[in-house]
Amino acid sequence: MSAIYVDDSAGNDDTGKGTAEAPYQSLAFAIFTHGPEAKLLARKDPSASYEEPTQSALKKAKKGADGLEKKRKRAEELAEREAKEKSDRQKVLEESKKIVLTEDTALPAAVKSKIGSLTPLRSKRVRVSGWVHRSRDQNKIIFVVLRDGTGYLQCVLSGKVAQTYDALTLTLESTVELVGTLQPVPEGKTAPGGHELIVDYWRVLGASPGGEDAFTNRLNEKSDPSILSDLRHLVIRGETASAVLKLRAALLNSFRQSLVSRDLVEVTPPCMVQTQVEGGATLFKFDYYGQPAFLTQSSQLYLETCLPSLGDVFCVQESFRAENSHTRRHLSEYTHLEAELAFITFDDLMDHIEGIICDTVDRLLAEPSTAALIKQLNPNFTAPARPFRRLSYVDAIAWLNEHGIQHEAEDAEGNAIRDDTGNPKMVDHQVGDDIAEAAERRMTDILGTPVFLYGFPAELKAFYMKKIPGTGGDGGPVCTESCDLLMPGVGEIVGGSMRIADMEELLGAYKREGIDPAPYYWFTDQRKYGTCEHGGYGLGVERFLAWLANRFTVRECSLYPRWPGRATP
Ligand code: 4AD
Repeated sequence: MSAIYVDDSAGNDDTGKGTAEAPYQSLAFAIFTHGPEAKLLARKDPSASYEEPTQSALKKAKKGADGLEKKRKRAEELAEREAKEKSDRQKVLEESKKIVLTEDTALPAAVKSKIGSLTPLRSKRVRVSGWVHRSRDQNKIIFVVLRDGTGYLQCVLSGKVAQTYDALTLTLESTVELVGTLQPVPEGKTAPGGHELIVDYWRVLGASPGGEDAFTNRLNEKSDPSILSDLRHLVIRGETASAVLKLRAALLNSFRQSLVSRDLVEVTPPCMVQTQVEGGATLFKFDYYGQPAFLTQSSQLYLETCLPSLGDVFCVQESFRAENSHTRRHLSEYTHLEAELAFITFDDLMDHIEGIICDTVDRLLAEPSTAALIKQLNPNFTAPARPFRRLSYVDAIAWLNEHGIQHEAEDAEGNAIRDDTGNPKMVDHQVGDDIAEAAERRMTDILGTPVFLYGFPAELKAFYMKKIPGTGGDGGPVCTESCDLLMPGVGEIVGGSMRIADMEELLGAYKREGIDPAPYYWFTDQRKYGTCEHGGYGLGVERFLAWLANRFTVRECSLYPRWPGRATP
């Protein structure tokens, strides 16, 4: 009998052959494979020579071999069991194909309803259609949680209804039609809406795949963020994502009600434009029948032209920013709620913004279904107290320095200055500095309440803003009647200002900013044919929603968010 070779360090039980050239790694495996009578030769490593193992080593190895044998037996038994279960299930499935459900025409006619409208139909026979959100089989009773966008409904399938081939192979996200009697849930049990459907007839409308391609294999809690972004169309079926989108719809509705109740008229300005509002650096440019054009950054200039026609106006429109920002509050396309008001003062403007926000929140909380969504997403939410704190830009700079909140130093070209250790050099804020996102966020987080920052230096702001009379004379900066509303956790959600009402001043502003006045003729005319003191603001809907629903990023607050590199789905 030829010897079986074992090498403790260089051998391999998986790929070895037990030969001198391809030895096993363990004596136990050699005995398990070739039996206790095999002639064994072993070595520690390739530098040693093969020798017969000691008695004690053999004894230990035999025990090991017994263990391996037991493991093999267990695996064999498991495989047998699985094969049996598979064939049993196959039999059950074959049998189930013989069970055919038909709707019992002797029963009362079922009323077709959406899940959200079921309560008045308790004890009646109803017909609902939707997606299988969850399903569980408990002692041959199948509990399905059905989803149709208006709500969730627990459905109970038992007896013949739960024995059909479709019932046994039902998969998540399949569409089904279910017919049955709506009953309050038994005492001590809970279900969405407080009722459940006792199903007497049902059918699959569109089966969702099982196995490899099953919904939960494409998407689950552990999925990578980039997969979640690619599969946003499936993510929005989830309970949290859909709650955010529902709250978003309610929010837009409440905003509209608040604005209309103050006599503002809704208009729909164009998204394809040939003028800029917020600086050339963030414009998306495109070819418009051979002419340069842009996607709008803000509808403000158009709203201003509506004042003499419609009075105070607002719009809810997409705005576009080619900002190479990957922060959690920047999108390349966002929903911009903007309003413009005539014959007002700067204080009127801030009062109006505060009023609209509080009114909108109150309306949401007063409606039980939206209050429930807020509670689900942001259990600790409370409506903000009025009046909002108002902090001038100059006081904000002092506040930041008092609280040791610094910013990264930059050279004249705007490049970061590094300290000796290579880290960005941090310096105190000075009047004239932009308050960057990080500082702004820390400030709102410390203050913990909404804050209006107002009176920003003209240099930091857009060309159209009205100056605060008298500023700039004492060596300080020329400041503007501008305000940003900051919210805890998000930072700036609203940017607004009074606008330059005087034509000469506006022409000077174009010049200072290097803007060709020609394409702005219609905006300038506003000052020519009956000017007025006016102002307005823009509110980022996704940022407002991130605050309201306590979402980490605005990306969760947009249906299909766009950011640098992402325009799919
Ligand atoms: O401060 P902004 O740039 O102001 C304007 O566009 C004015 N013309 C609006 C007006 O007065 N009618 O933008 C207003 C708001 C910001 O406060 C922010 O909430 C949101 O729009 N916003 C963004 N939201 C998401 N992603 C971006 N990249 C955003 N840029 C601005």
